[in-house]
Amino acid sequence: MRPGNHTIDEARQGEAMESRSGGSRKLYLESYGCQMNFSDSEIVVSILADAGYSTTKNEAEADLILLNTCSIRDNAEKRIRHRLQRLKSGKKSKPKLKVGILGCMAERLRDQLLEEEKLVDLVVGPDAYRDLPRLVEEIEGGQKAVNTLLSREETYAEIEPVRLDDKGVTAFISIMRGCDNMCSFCVVPFTRGRERSRDPQSIVAEAHDLFDKGYREVTLLGQNVDSYKWNVDAKGIVKNEAEPVVRFAQLMGLVSEVNPDLRVRFSTSHPKDMTDEVLEVMAKKDNLCKYIHLPVQSGDSDVLKRMNRGYTREWYLDRIAAIRRIMPDCAISTDIIAGFCGETLEQHEGTLSMMNEVRYEMAYMFKYSERPRTLAERKFEDDVPEEEKSRRLAEIIALQKVHSKERTTVQFGKTYRVLVEGPSKRNPEDFQGRNTYNSVVVFPKGESKAGEYVYVRTTSHTPVTLIGELVSEAEAKAEGYIA
Ligand code: 5AD
Ligand code: SF4
Repeated sequence: MRPGNHTIDEARQGEAMESRSGGSRKLYLESYGCQMNFSDSEIVVSILADAGYSTTKNEAEADLILLNTCSIRDNAEKRIRHRLQRLKSGKKSKPKLKVGILGCMAERLRDQLLEEEKLVDLVVGPDAYRDLPRLVEEIEGGQKAVNTLLSREETYAEIEPVRLDDKGVTAFISIMRGCDNMCSFCVVPFTRGRERSRDPQSIVAEAHDLFDKGYREVTLLGQNVDSYKWNVDAKGIVKNEAEPVVRFAQLMGLVSEVNPDLRVRFSTSHPKDMTDEVLEVMAKKDNLCKYIHLPVQSGDSDVLKRMNRGYTREWYLDRIAAIRRIMPDCAISTDIIAGFCGETLEQHEGTLSMMNEVRYEMAYMFKYSERPRTLAERKFEDDVPEEEKSRRLAEIIALQKVHSKERTTVQFGKTYRVLVEGPSKRNPEDFQGRNTYNSVVVFPKGESKAGEYVYVRTTSHTPVTLIGELVSEAEAKAEGYIA
């Protein structure tokens, strides 16, 4: 999956994983949705390994199938319902098979899920994974089990995640959980609870450990990383005067010092909270990647107000100006919602003109999908007809295509330091990696290996991918490579 954003991709199925040493019972786990879910799955595997479960990539040999689910849009939930339908036949031929639902859909629907989906044995919300060993024991005894308690403290800080991406080059580090923003369209505050930050020492220790194991890139994850805080409360009152206060800018600084060869990305920033201080820290260090995912949602101030985003069009553009001033070359991507409640044609055009001003590298674009319990569901009518939503979305997608291509053209012709991730998807004879801007770079393998840094001179490109050839460090230096 594309690191550096937390955006939900309903079409992406979780990577199953190779068997892990441990017990005799087999766990098959699928993750849906955002990077946070993928990161949580690594915690779940760690907890269940201690309870005697080893993971398998082969669904047929599983004793327990877990789906780590997403509720962000109705489509995401529908997809999981379909998946459950398909699992029904598997359960018929294997009556002892247990099926569990984790994540946001578990949290949103709780016991209701057991009634509606008879094959489900287990429902566990995002803050209750420590309870999994007990819950699994219950279902093994033939009962159904549910725990959807949300917590104000849980960060799973000291649990060592079992990395499920078998390439061993890039990893997620969860730095906080939950969200206090209450954007009116969003179900996340209901499914993931209140915002809480994780102890910075445990974050830095995890980054060190990953580097020692050969990882060369970490993505710091949170719903709103700019509001990360340690040793200070929401009102700005310091909790322990003897200890330093760590906000996101300081945390980035700390993680960047783990090793100059450990690249650091993060996701997701919130325009209302993104400070110049963070940008200045990013500008100073080559290993803090020059890429920011800054969801705009809409280009119209009235729509943003109804969305409860806490900023105006002007404020957002000021943040973009700050990025350009402090890091002129920084890549910027975004999330956009088409057809939010009450969105007029003119307001939709405001989004298009915003895109034209910023010219995003990349965007995740969605039709508005009304979610139960949200502010928008209670206060506004979902009144843009489905067809019109689709038409507006298509316009947004078409425009983004132009901008993505334009950005690739700007990046083409230069030489980059690239972190090799593994074989190219299109041609396994080639390798692919990313440059600092998070753009995919494809090149013939040569003597390079996954997890190494190489220098690539770009020689051609597709609309979104750079294609190039390996050059030596001396050549790259002579060409003024981009780190
Ligand atoms: N409808 C459509 N898109 C949504 N998102 C969040 N909630 C909804 C919804 N109800 C999008 C936002 C967010 C991204 C993760 O998903 O753009 O940034
Ligand atoms: Fe949802 Fe807004 Fe929080 Fe993102 S910042 S998780 S969109 S409420």
